[in-house]
Amino acid sequence: MRLLLLGPPGSGKGTQADRLVEILGVRHISSGDLLRAEVEAGTPCGRAVSSAMESGELVPDDVVIEMLRQPILDASAAGGYLLDGFPRTLAQAESAAAMAREEGVLADAAVFLAAEPDLLVRRLLARAEELGRADDNETTIRHRIEVYNEKTEPLRKYYAERGILLEVDGLQTVDQVTADILDGLGRGPAHA
Ligand code: AP5
Repeated sequence: MRLLLLGPPGSGKGTQADRLVEILGVRHISSGDLLRAEVEAGTPCGRAVSSAMESGELVPDDVVIEMLRQPILDASAAGGYLLDGFPRTLAQAESAAAMAREEGVLADAAVFLAAEPDLLVRRLLARAEELGRADDNETTIRHRIEVYNEKTEPLRKYYAERGILLEVDGLQTVDQVTADILDGLGRGPAHA
């Protein structure tokens, strides 16, 4: 199975991805985690993207696409992928689809976790106390949500038009969100 997992900051993408990869036997590819690893390692890519990430802006499309190309192909050959946080712009979606079509690894579903912004701010401020991510302060969280609304939210329509959109309420319990995703993918208990 090949999945895209999208949603605003704090909607639960990472939380659900950890569970879904276990259940579905696919590889977790998180654009945010890969970018943070580059920043931490101080690579040229990491140095180029650190200030955009810290301020809650998106990093340039070409950087992300280049970084993800090989992991997507490797995961596809190994049984499938769950892309967490990618694509985030129309340009990323179109470029990824062109590459995936060429390689025969198009996504089966685009899962969107829907959630109300104020609750997300609270969730992320709570997480900040545990993890201390550089972009988890209130001003930057609110900016990340604005960037999401402007650049990523339009992808819902894009995937709806392609017939692969699965929308799930991300404000339910973690277990219920997982159950709804599996059900929507035809992998829940009712489909066993
Ligand atoms: P990224 O790392 O993708 O961050 P994000 O989208 O802001 O999302 P988060 O990781 O903050 O939240 P999440 O949705 O994974 O929620 P989580 O499960 O952690 O991106 C960071 C930055 O990298 C971007 O701003 C950008 O600069 C750059 N970037 C990344 N991808 C890019 C791309 N494709 N193009 C360009 N730039 C890119 O949960 C949050 C909290 O809520 C946790 O504490 C969790 O325990 C809790 N929680 C989760 N689910 C529930 C629930 N159902 N009920 C109660 N609590 C819950």
